[in-house]
Amino acid sequence: MTGAFTIAIDGPAAAGKGTISRAVAERLGLPHLDTGLLYRAVGARVIGGQDPVAAARTLDASELNEAALRTGPVAEAASRVAVMAEVRDALTEFQRAFARRPGGAVLDGRDIGTVICPEAEVKLYVTASPECRAERRFLELRARGAEVTEEGVLADVRARDQRDSARAVAPLKPAEDAVRIDTTALGIDEAIEAAMAAIASRWG
Ligand code: DC
Repeated sequence: MTGAFTIAIDGPAAAGKGTISRAVAERLGLPHLDTGLLYRAVGARVIGGQDPVAAARTLDASELNEAALRTGPVAEAASRVAVMAEVRDALTEFQRAFARRPGGAVLDGRDIGTVICPEAEVKLYVTASPECRAERRFLELRARGAEVTEEGVLADVRARDQRDSARAVAPLKPAEDAVRIDTTALGIDEAIEAAMAAIASRWG
């Protein structure tokens, strides 16, 4: 296993992409970029009153580590700015530069295998049923003390899926050459093993 390579991991919210990406990056010793944080950081600035395109153009990597990006309102704002072509364009080069790091990188998001890195050596598309994703998100939010209902979280998951998949620019969809991993019936360790097996099979 030599040379620079990119692992692109796409899929809908709460399918297990983030967990899988972090684990794979750690095991392979590669840097990892959660590209949703870029859209969240822009969303957070928009909530603060900024213009979305100006926010995307002036974004700084230091803004991506803030815990404040992990809230429901910021996710909602991220999903809204993510439909804007100029916002996406402004964030493209940062992602591509990350993907080209010597030695390679793991990037996860919605359009990594299709738009950002169509030449990625390995592409995974991680999914799970909406009900399963909503339940995971519900348990996660409740553990953090949020006042949420299962029905409310499922409605949010469906609304975000719809917006992410139906948008004209870079919609959420699997790349033709992506390996699909459905985590509905998998535990965390099984999902990570499935991803590692898929990477090994593509990478040789
Ligand atoms: O993965 P996440 O929940 O942090 O993503 C937040 C929003 O950003 C989500 O609604 C979809 C959007 N997004 C995107 O359009 N393209 C990406 N590569 C990553 C996220």
